[in-house]
Amino acid sequence: MNIQLRKWTMSDKGSLTTLCNAVDRQYLSDRLPSPYTDSDAEWWLNMVKEAEGKTGLFRAVVVDNLVVGSISVERKEDVYRIDGELGYMLLTDHWSQGIMTQAVAQISRMAFNLLDLQRITAHVFLSNIASARVLEKNGYEKEATIRKGAIKNGKIHTIVQYGLVKEDAC
Ligand SMILES: CC(C)(COP(=O)(O)OP(=O)(O)OC[C@H]1O[C@@H](n2cnc3c(N)ncnc32)[C@H](O)[C@@H]1OP(=O)(O)O)[C@@H](O)C(=O)NCCC(=O)NCCS
Repeated sequence: MNIQLRKWTMSDKGSLTTLCNAVDRQYLSDRLPSPYTDSDAEWWLNMVKEAEGKTGLFRAVVVDNLVVGSISVERKEDVYRIDGELGYMLLTDHWSQGIMTQAVAQISRMAFNLLDLQRITAHVFLSNIASARVLEKNGYEKEATIRKGAIKNGKIHTIVQYGLVKEDAC
């Protein structure tokens, strides 16, 4: 299987809209509009065009030439700017084939090199075992358990914080 992380372009409006409307949202941020429209995609792709390589890395996860997911590392602000927040999503049909494990390995390496970060942070719902496993397989360490850290669809969740520091990644 050929897994590539490629930069988004404005011509990805259709594939981004399809991805965001099809993805399983149970563990995703409510920031992702639902339904996801063409104008949502246009706004986001314009934001990415401005931020790419400066305040973040944003990549389409491409398998056999099809966009099946999205992954990003976004630099935090102010005194936290040496830290980046990792986020990702993958279409359900492609789960459990090792795709996101490889994608996280690739973007973590790129983010340390290109964004001059000292660490990368990820937050997962305690019940999101697959996501925690992806992070652990990439050397991310469990750093904190945040009780009642988030609410999704009316249910309160415990959040687990994972981190990878630069020297442990190399
Ligand atoms: C989380 C997600 C990215 C995982 O991607 P993926 O490509 O399926 O992950 P991988 O195949 O690389 O690895 C998944 C690991 O979790 C394990 N796993 C999956 N479901 C599991 C479960 N219910 N219980 C225990 N382990 C599980 C797999 O066996 C695998 O581990 P292994 O290699 O040791 O066997 C994907 O499921 C997804 O997009 N989910 C929805 C969005 C999301 O949760 N985003 C993350 C927000 S932080």
